[in-house]
Amino acid sequence: MTELPEGISFHPDYFDRSAQDALVEAIRAVVREAPLFVPKMPRTGKPMQVRMSNCGKLGWVTDKENGYRYQPTHPKTGRPWPPIPAPLQKLWKDVAAFDGSPEACLINYYVDTAKMGLHQDRDEEEFSAPVVSVSLGDDCLFRIGGTKRGGKTQSIRLRSGDVIVLGGASRLRYHGVDRIYPATSTLLSDGGRINLTLRRVSAKG
Ligand code: SIN
Ligand code: FE2
Repeated sequence: MTELPEGISFHPDYFDRSAQDALVEAIRAVVREAPLFVPKMPRTGKPMQVRMSNCGKLGWVTDKENGYRYQPTHPKTGRPWPPIPAPLQKLWKDVAAFDGSPEACLINYYVDTAKMGLHQDRDEEEFSAPVVSVSLGDDCLFRIGGTKRGGKTQSIRLRSGDVIVLGGASRLRYHGVDRIYPATSTLLSDGGRINLTLRRVSAKG
């Protein structure tokens, strides 16, 4: 594998199989309380290919009318997001190198055919905190670009249990998911992939 850019740290197999099973159980409990929804692009209202939910004080949502934003409640139920499960809090402490807790954990669910276009994570106030991302279920091809659109990119295959951290000089790198590799994991009974993305949203006061 070619070397990853400065500010990206990759922790292959951070969660072993039993930790992955526990995490899936915890996420299933979250989505029972905060059901997956179909996010819609700002202005056009075009649906994204992933289904989403969140846990934490704040959740990332998007719709035609109000665009990308963080909010403390689920867009459909109006209820607060469930708390971030303990193993994810622990992961953040372990790898984030940031003096403050994560406020948002985005849950993305990909079916076999879903992908996510190249984008930057830039709806947060606090860019000194990294983005900590967990893969569960089927493998995916993750693409990492530069901090400007249209630059050179490199790709890395992410597997169930892997953690990748985008911080420092790489905090605002473009990234996306080109494809899912169906049936490459037995973790999720219905297949597909779950991505969990932990973020700090507000600047530390
Ligand atoms: C995202 O950037 O929101 C998701 C990345 C991933 O699914 O690995
Ligand atoms: Fe992202």
